Amino acid sequence: MPVPSKAVTPALLQVDAILGRLDGRQALGEICRFLRRSFPHYRWVGVYRTVDTTLVLDAWDGPAATEHTTIPVAKGVCGRAVREGRTVIVDDVRDDPEYLACFLETRAEIVVPIRDGDAVVGEIDIDGDRIKAYDASDRTFLECVAEKLARSVAAAAAEPPPSEGSVRSA
Ligand code: SME
Repeated sequence: MPVPSKAVTPALLQVDAILGRLDGRQALGEICRFLRRSFPHYRWVGVYRTVDTTLVLDAWDGPAATEHTTIPVAKGVCGRAVREGRTVIVDDVRDDPEYLACFLETRAEIVVPIRDGDAVVGEIDIDGDRIKAYDASDRTFLECVAEKLARSVAAAAAEPPPSEGSVRSA
């Protein structure tokens, strides 16, 4: 199920409203929760931040925690999005040799870089439970969301590290 075109503008306005009242990790957590609540095919939503050659999970919302709270940029679908500096859509995670498994239910994944100028400072990572869950409508929408998140990612970088299990928004 794609993102319906009539849902895009209201959703982006909601993202703006969240970012108008929250910042840093709190804002990122609220965005994860909002995306998941608004679009049922977003089963698990997380935001990773790039720290040197590692991705660090700053916020997430979903049915379960991931063991991959840090991911080397050299690895995974998440790492590939940073290395290649582009959105990655995996139609069927079972066909992707780089895929790092988090949840038994995951069949498809989309990873969208968050940029500050030329640098990839983080990414939105979303898992879905259906093959080919994501298409160009998700890419376009999530790239617009990602454009708005660079400031919150920078603010999260200045916050003390999260304690174990505390990054979840809910
Ligand atoms: N599947 C990702 C790891 C992160 S989890 O999906 C939350 C990857 O292959 O990089």
